[in-house]
Amino acid sequence: MAKPIEALLDERRRYRPPEEFVARANVRDPDVYRQADEDFEGFWSRFAGELDWFRKWDRVLEWNPPDARWFIGGKLNASVNCVDRHLATPRKNKAAIIWEGEPGDTRVLTYQELSREVNRFANVLRSLGVKKGDRVTIYLPMIPELPISMLACARIGAPHSVVFGGFSPTALASRIEDSGSRILITCDGYYRRGELIPQKARADEAAQKSGGIEKVIVVRRAGNDVPMQPGRDLWWHELMEGARGVAAPEEMDAEDMLFMMYTSGTTGKPKGVVHTTGGYLVGVYATTKWVFDLHEEDTYWCSADIGWITGHSYIVYGPLSNGATTVMYEGSPDWPDKDRLWQMVERYRVNIFYTAPTAIRQFMQWGEQYPARHDLSSLRLLGSVGEPINPEAWVWYHRVIGGGRCPIVDTWWQTETGMIMITPLPGITETKPGSATRPFPGVRAAVLDENGQPVPPGGGGYLALLRPWPAMLRTIWGDHDRYVAQYWSRWNRETYYPGDGAKWDEDGYFWVLGRVDDVMNVAGHRLSTMEIESALVEHPAVAEAAVIGALHPIKGQVPVAFVILKSGHAGSPALEQELKQKVAEVISPIARPDRVVFTPDLPKTRSGKIMRRLLRDIAEGKELGDVTTLRNPEVAEELRMAFTSHA
Ligand code: WT7
Repeated sequence: MAKPIEALLDERRRYRPPEEFVARANVRDPDVYRQADEDFEGFWSRFAGELDWFRKWDRVLEWNPPDARWFIGGKLNASVNCVDRHLATPRKNKAAIIWEGEPGDTRVLTYQELSREVNRFANVLRSLGVKKGDRVTIYLPMIPELPISMLACARIGAPHSVVFGGFSPTALASRIEDSGSRILITCDGYYRRGELIPQKARADEAAQKSGGIEKVIVVRRAGNDVPMQPGRDLWWHELMEGARGVAAPEEMDAEDMLFMMYTSGTTGKPKGVVHTTGGYLVGVYATTKWVFDLHEEDTYWCSADIGWITGHSYIVYGPLSNGATTVMYEGSPDWPDKDRLWQMVERYRVNIFYTAPTAIRQFMQWGEQYPARHDLSSLRLLGSVGEPINPEAWVWYHRVIGGGRCPIVDTWWQTETGMIMITPLPGITETKPGSATRPFPGVRAAVLDENGQPVPPGGGGYLALLRPWPAMLRTIWGDHDRYVAQYWSRWNRETYYPGDGAKWDEDGYFWVLGRVDDVMNVAGHRLSTMEIESALVEHPAVAEAAVIGALHPIKGQVPVAFVILKSGHAGSPALEQELKQKVAEVISPIARPDRVVFTPDLPKTRSGKIMRRLLRDIAEGKELGDVTTLRNPEVAEELRMAFTSHA
């Protein structure tokens, strides 16, 4: 992302934590950074000590780069920590989840009620023969049964694999197959912008495609008619009817797998990122508590979808392990009108709100009149995650949503890190719009050059993490070599490579600039160019495709496809539509290319590699730099003409 770099270099605005905020903040002493750095194992083990363990760990960390084990010998259960732990306290009847459906229906689950649902569903899963270690795929929208399913899986030690409800049947099928799940949890349908989405039909298609699925558990959400396959399909509510509300939790080893989450990498095949029980829980517990400055009475709302890591860590496991009240919303932010989220902030008196830059840019574009309709004075802290936030969006968020009084925590992390890694601490850190500021205490980050040498302050290079952290991924499901190659081989086995470009400034603040690999970030969603390319070449008319992420004012980036057709095929608006549709079907509507440009040739280097940088410049309407290293330099100009004439 070339453009923001210059803008960031000029960013001089500073925001100190307001005094009223600091006065009540959980963490105020800047010395926590030094203390945590000197004894990071001790630092993490203090948080671990605040959780419930069946058996305490013998050692905090065993680090055989790049393999880490945390809280060795410790035994615990994540559902016990997210639910049971609170039942013996005044939190028993506190709202754990405040849920709102898109049509306006609501459901509030206290910790006691959540406990009952989780235990009952744990019994249901056990009655279907699900055992410790079995993977369960969950394909649900944002309804309470989603966190209930996850926690029930955690209770019986069955790792869950939640697949974002908006993913296509094809994408779901490949994830079911890769994980080897026999159980699929889905629903009849759900609402999106007033429209009924027939989820069960999509799940059926995936179950058919993948094979291996023995039982499909169907939540009745929308009441639409769905065919139930006898012997395979079971209604959630029927199974729950007879289920007892007490299920003994499995004693999990700290290193036992809690869940897997698929994410896009640099190849066409999504990777199943594996997270474990002890380290992950300690990491998300600690970061939720400190980064969001949680207080007992807070209402906390992360507007992400639980189908992504943000939702796993900061809607489910982080807030619930802290005994917080977490808000969940099923639908679209512009339904029935563009003030829906602000209406909800007002209705629930939300104190902490966490969203993505792409959403903030969308709110900006919609206009200030929508937030202005509502009383947002309950807000005291705002968060951002998913992509670099441009300073203008940051400042708008601060002024319009935060009323100028709420600190903003811009949190950098990844599916793989499991927890927030670079972030302000809201009671301590002076913030600069566009910078995620400093590593969380106990975390060590750096900006390195190609050779792994630290770049001096003011310079740019690759972001790197220099020390293991508890919520780090342990492997890629079924492909440990890929784990080693992808993350721990760029410089040496002890240095984690996230795939982001970054710069750091004289104050040691980090400015994450975006991906440096073939991964793009579309509206906060991670997509691989290869994945979209393989979807395109599945079409009989396509010979070759090159996809890049081009800058976009709201979404951050959008996929743009350059396509060579097979002989006998000609480019047309109809074919462009067809190819866009193809990508939406194979991956998800999120991945649908913004443009498909037909071209007789692609710019290639002498070694035959497609020069993507050039394609990006073309798609962004930039000056084309040096093209002399191309084997076919004339293509550059032709493509530029094709692109602009078609626009
Ligand atoms: C990639 C990870 C982690 C939750 C959501 C995305 C980008 C994430 C920031 C931020 C700049 C950010 C990075 C990262 N990213 N947060 N605050 N500032 N960039 O998870 O799908 O695993 O994507 O999102 O490029 O590598 P993900």
